[in-house]
Formats: sequence, structure tokens, C-alpha cells
Amino acid sequence: MKFFADTAEIADIKELAETGLLDGVTTNPSLIAKSGRDFMEVTKEICGLTHGPVSAEVVALDHEGMMREAEVLRKIADNVCIKVPLTFDGLKTCRKLTGDGTMVNVTLCFSANQALLAAKAGATFISPFVGRHDDNGFDGMQLISDIRLIYDNYAFATEILVASIRHPIHVLESAKIGADVATMPPAVIRSLVKHVLTDKGIEGFLADWAKTGQSI
Ligand code: E4P
Repeated sequence: MKFFADTAEIADIKELAETGLLDGVTTNPSLIAKSGRDFMEVTKEICGLTHGPVSAEVVALDHEGMMREAEVLRKIADNVCIKVPLTFDGLKTCRKLTGDGTMVNVTLCFSANQALLAAKAGATFISPFVGRHDDNGFDGMQLISDIRLIYDNYAFATEILVASIRHPIHVLESAKIGADVATMPPAVIRSLVKHVLTDKGIEGFLADWAKTGQSI
């Protein structure tokens, strides 16, 4: 399963890229606003930190407007992936852009039928939002299972990019289901390494090592 960082914070992306665990980055207008940076400038900088896809989201709601914005965004770097909302205009834009060889991430997916439409429109990635799904009393992971089943039934090439991940269990369940990508806040990626028994084990080994009086 690929790991994308769901952030526009350069320091976090740099640190994660150095671990070799980072396969790409996703941003959205809220994350750009949180960074306080210029959209074009920060997106260009992020594209230089990873060879993987970097999702940059359009804000127009009509097809012509989305195409206009996509033209600007895809000139930033070869690894820009245009993010469009799951609407009819978004799907139309998706078909047009992927037809030209541009990567497209169809975002704000909350149903398996929406995911089916995105795959039929040729999306590179579909982004089902599990956390927001759970927050509203739905079962986010069931949505991922349903999409996996449907995509496998018809051998769709669209990759399932699990978004709105809130905690390590979302990551674990996504991997068990066979999702292609998980995009996570940097804090969630870091939390995956934590285990109380690992910390306790290190503590014990170091205490015993100190008793030997040796050094390496
Ligand atoms: C990623 O592409 C999404 O925009 C993001 O995961 C949404 O996460 P949130 O629900 O925590 O805002």
C-alpha cells in the first residue's frame, strides 16, 4: 500500500520523504489555507520533494473553469495530479484530463456508486473520505470494502486512495481490504511506528547493556 502525506507543511513532507516511506502528497484548499503559503509556490515546492503524485485541487465548479484551472496547475510539474470534486462537471473534467495523460484524483467520494462513476470516467485515483463518513454515522471502512469489490469485479484500474484518515486502525483496515493508497496527516504516519512494547523493550535492553560497561 502506498503512503501519501495529507498536508501542505514542507517540514513534515521533507522529514517523511527522508524515511523513504512517502509515495506522494495530497493537498486541498483547507490544507493550503492552513499552511499560510501561496498555492502555486507551495505546490511547486512539494512537487520537488517527492517523485510521486502531488494532488492539487481545482476550486471552480463548472467544467470550463475546472479545465482552465487544471491548465495552470498541470504546468507546475510533471507529478501534479489534478484533484476534482465528485460532481458531473468534475467527472467530465476527469475524462478530458486523463484522456490527455494527466493524472486525476476524484475527491469527496462518499458512496460506492460515486466511486463507480469516477472509475468509468477514467480517474487515476478515487478518494473516499472515511473519517468524515464515520463522523456522520456511516461506516467508512465498509465503503472501502464495497469500492474494492466493485473495482475488482470489473478490473477498473482506478486506485483507491483512502482519505480523511484519522487513526492507525483506518490504515490497518485499509491495508487488509487491499486499498491502493492511504493519505494521512503526518501525525498518523508517525503514530504507526509506535508500540508500548517496542519502547519497553528498548528500555530493558539499554538497562542491561549499561550493566556490561561496554561501548560500541
Ligand atoms: C485528502 O485528499 C483529503 O482532502 C483529506 O484527507 C480530507 O481529510 P479531512 O476529512 O481530515 O479534512
